Amino acid sequence: MSSYTTPNGVHIEDLRKVMNVCETTGVKYIDIRATQMEGARTFQELVEKTGACGECDGCTTHIPWISKFICRCNQVSIDTILEERTKGAATQEEIQERTKAGSSCGRCKALTASILENGK
Ligand code: FES
Repeated sequence: MSSYTTPNGVHIEDLRKVMNVCETTGVKYIDIRATQMEGARTFQELVEKTGACGECDGCTTHIPWISKFICRCNQVSIDTILEERTKGAATQEEIQERTKAGSSCGRCKALTASILENGK
């Protein structure tokens, strides 16, 4: 079991299995990530497309950091990825070289590539 402390200090014992984001509807971390892969980026887009309530403590605590930090292992934000894109990074590999996103577990690679492709 892997534990994790979010950038805003929330400790999660096993992020992959137990992280129900929305206390009302049961939307999980993996649902948020899957929706990001489909192009949703903002809090409102993620709430609408996943069916999360957007109002419970789980939504207001977790959706902001999930949407911000694309690479959890190396704390790389979507803003950093987009900034590197404007500086010429065109591939996931180039983002990894510049920011380390994707250089640990690698689970963020597909989402990083999606962000590069969509420009958001
Ligand atoms: S989440 Fe990016 S390397 Fe693990």
